[in-house]
Amino acid sequence: MPIKRICCIGAGYVGGPSCAVIASKCPDVQVTVVDLSEERIRQWNSDHLPLYEPQLDDVVKSCRERNLWFSTDVDKAIIEAELIFICVNTPTKLFGIGKGRAADLKYIESAARRIATVAKSSKIVVEKSTVPVKAAESITNILQANVKPGVKYQVLSNPEFLAEGTAISDLVSPDRVLIGGEKTDQGREAVEALCWIYEHWIPKEQIIVMNTWSSELSKLAANAFLAQRISSINAISAICEATGADVSEVAGAIGTDSRIGSKFLKASVGFGGSCFQKDVLNLVYLCECLNLPEAAAYWQQVVDINDYQRKRFALRIVESLFNTVTDKNITILGFAFKKDTGDTRESAAIYLSKYLLDEEAKIRIYDPKVEKEQMLRELTSPMISDNPDRVSKLVTIYDDVYEAAKGSHALVLCTEWDEFKTLDYKRIYADMLKPAFIFDGRIILDHEALMEIGFHVETIGKRLTRKPVHRPIAPCTQ
Ligand code: NAD
Ligand code: UDX
Repeated sequence: MPIKRICCIGAGYVGGPSCAVIASKCPDVQVTVVDLSEERIRQWNSDHLPLYEPQLDDVVKSCRERNLWFSTDVDKAIIEAELIFICVNTPTKLFGIGKGRAADLKYIESAARRIATVAKSSKIVVEKSTVPVKAAESITNILQANVKPGVKYQVLSNPEFLAEGTAISDLVSPDRVLIGGEKTDQGREAVEALCWIYEHWIPKEQIIVMNTWSSELSKLAANAFLAQRISSINAISAICEATGADVSEVAGAIGTDSRIGSKFLKASVGFGGSCFQKDVLNLVYLCECLNLPEAAAYWQQVVDINDYQRKRFALRIVESLFNTVTDKNITILGFAFKKDTGDTRESAAIYLSKYLLDEEAKIRIYDPKVEKEQMLRELTSPMISDNPDRVSKLVTIYDDVYEAAKGSHALVLCTEWDEFKTLDYKRIYADMLKPAFIFDGRIILDHEALMEIGFHVETIGKRLTRKPVHRPIAPCTQ
C-alpha cells in the first residue's frame, strides 16, 4: 500500500533532517514532524532552524508547507499517518538499574504509549532511534496490550546512519538503508511499504532487509566498530608520542591495506558526539545482561581509551606549561564535537575545559557555530561541574578568535573547523604571552610553519622537534 501520510515523533538531529529529505524526495507524501518542545517546533517553522547542518536550510525551505510540516500537535499527526517514525532521544540512563550504561527508553515508551492511546487506524511504526536489541518487541507489546478493535500494528527497525555535519549528503546518498521486520505476511507488507518510500531515491539493492533484532544490533555494532577504530588509532598515538613515531604516517601506512581501509583512522583528542559513547556503553550493558563479561570488557575498553586520550592531552597541556595552569589564560579553539555542526554533546572540548578548570585555569572559548548559552550549559551541567560559580568566574566566551587569543598563554585546538587552518597565526603569536604554546588536538595545523613563527607546538601522536623557548620574540602589542 503506498503511504500518503508520515508522522515523525521527535524533531531533533535525526527526525528533522531525515524527514526533510523524505519530504523533498517524495512530493506525493505528506510528512509531519512533531515534538513536545514548542521552542524546537517554532524554530523549525522559522528562518533560524534549531540546528546547523550544511544544506539543511535549502532542503527545508524547498518543501516546508508544501508536504513538510512541523507541529506540536502530536495526536493529530499520529491519527492521520499510516506510517510513524519514532526519532526520540535515547540517552544513557543517569540513575537506577544500568545507570551510566543502559539506554533510557522512557521517551521511546512514551511515544509508543501515545500512539497506542490515540491511534484509530492501523499503523506501521518504525523505530529510527538507536535502541537496545529487542526494543521493537517492547514497543509491540505496549501497542498490542492497548490495541483497539480493527487497528493493527507492525513495528519495524530502521536505524539511522547519518553523521552530523554531513547529514544531508548521508541521507541523500547513504551507503545502505537497513530495515528489520517480522517474517510474516503482514511484516513483509510493512517492510515493502517502507521500502517504497526509500525507493523514491535509493537504488533497491542498497536497501537491506533483515530480521528486526539483527537490524537493531547492526546499528549498535556499526557505531561500536567506528568508535573502536578511533580508540585503536588513539592508543597507537600514545605509543607514537612515547617512541618518536608519527601517528599520521602509521595511519596512512595501515590505511592503504584494503582490508583495513583509510577512513576513521584520524587520531584526535578523543571522539565526541551524542552517539558513540552512548551506543558503546549500551552494547556493554547488553553484554553484561546476557552474561557475557569478556565481550562487555572488550567494548568497555573503547570508551576507557577515549577517556584516557582526553586526560592524556590535558595532562600534556599542564606539563608543557611548566606544570601549572592556575590563573593562566588558555584559549580553546572549537567547542563543537566535530566541524560543521553546532552540536556539543560529549564534545572533547567539554572534558578538556573541565580538567583545566579543575586546575583553576582561566578558559577563553571561541567556536564559530556554538552559542554562548550552549557552552555554559555544558560546562555547568552536574556531570561536569559541581561549582557553577567557578565556571562564571573562570570562563569567558568570545566571538572573535583574535580577541580570545590576545594575552593567552596557550591555544588548545579541540575542533577541526577549517577556518582554524587559515588564521593569521603571526598576528595571534604577536598578541600572546611568551613562550606562546599551541596544542593541536586534531592534527590539522601546519606545525613547521607555527614553529617557524615561534610557537611551542604540541600535537597528538607526534613528538615535534622543539625550538628553544627563550628564542627572540616579537613584542606583545597588547
Ligand atoms: P534529539 O535529542 O536531537 O531529538 C529528540 C527529540 O525528541 C527532542 O526534540 C525531544 O523533545 C523529542 N521527544 C522526546 N520524547 C518525545 C515524545 N514522547 N513526543 C514527541 N517528541 C519527543 O536526538 P537525536 O540526536 O535526533 O537522536 C534521536 C535518536 O536517533 C537517538 O536514539 C540517537 O541515538 C539516534 N541517532 C542520532 C544520530 C545523530 O547524529 N544525532 C545519528 C543516528 C542515530
Ligand atoms: C556517528 C556515526 O558516524 C553515524 O553513522 C551515526 O549515525 C551517529 O554517530 P557522528 O557522531 O555525527 O556520527 O559523527 P562522526 O563523524 O562519526 O564523528 C564522531 C566523533 O569521532 C567526532 O568527535 C569526530 O571528530 C571523531 N572522529 C571521527 C575522530 O576522532 N577520528 C576519526 O577518524 C573520525
